[in-house]
Amino acid sequence: MKLALANINLGLWAAAYIKQTAQAFWAKHPQETFTLGLPTGGTVTDMYANLRLFYQTGALDFSRFVTFNMDEYAGLLPEHPQSYHSYMQQHLFSGVNIPPQNRHLLNGMTQDPAAECAAYEESIRQAGGIKLFVGGVGRNGHIAFNEPGSEFTSRTRLVELTLGTRQANARFFGNHLEKVPTHALTVGIGTLLDAQEILILADGPQKAQAVSTFVCNEPTLSCPLTALKLHPNATLLIDKEAASLLPDDLKDCFTELETQNPEAAIYCLEL
Ligand code: GLP
Repeated sequence: MKLALANINLGLWAAAYIKQTAQAFWAKHPQETFTLGLPTGGTVTDMYANLRLFYQTGALDFSRFVTFNMDEYAGLLPEHPQSYHSYMQQHLFSGVNIPPQNRHLLNGMTQDPAAECAAYEESIRQAGGIKLFVGGVGRNGHIAFNEPGSEFTSRTRLVELTLGTRQANARFFGNHLEKVPTHALTVGIGTLLDAQEILILADGPQKAQAVSTFVCNEPTLSCPLTALKLHPNATLLIDKEAASLLPDDLKDCFTELETQNPEAAIYCLEL
């Protein structure tokens, strides 16, 4: 797998990568849809802003994207301002031409989570699987809402959020911890690993510990992010702050790459 250090805005690079990957696919399969797994969270707002810009400037047509979001809070109405339905509407769907029937999100209000999650897995299968899954990472190394301890074979399901995750996300709920849902529906780590390609973004000093744990450990359930090491085509894209706790030898490798090519958009190491 690749560890990539961004030398430009993380979101700009990720948006350009989605564009390039989808357009390369359509060059070979002009009539087919491209199935994209999508995240929410603070890390990826720049990525969505750049995707909207690509649409506005005519650089990218979204009509043949099919999207599956990673997760949704349990018990929040889609109209709730902090639901991931609202997030996606605000950050992507309102600004691009993805047909409504091509957008998929888990229903956090379902009375039957098991049936909802099984149907979601089936929809992904019917869409031909996910070509590129883009995600963020939690401060404790969670991916989607797979908290530490989640099995690497886990599928879409109802999960309980850790206190740390709820505290981290309280900033979106006016810093009222009690308003942050205790549970969520999330794709599983197994669901993520089934994607043809995975791109995970981590930025800022709050993610430095998770990035360092990821780099320094074999795959372990205590850090869900380490599951990426089991995937044949996965990239963890980080910024300089998230790289701040990396071991010195890796920091030195990145410094050397930067010295060789100061203008590069990213610096990539194979782990
Ligand atoms: C949230 C989401 C994750 C996201 C992560 C990071 O709780 N469920 O899918 O990747 O935590 O969020 P942020 O980018 O806001 O730090």
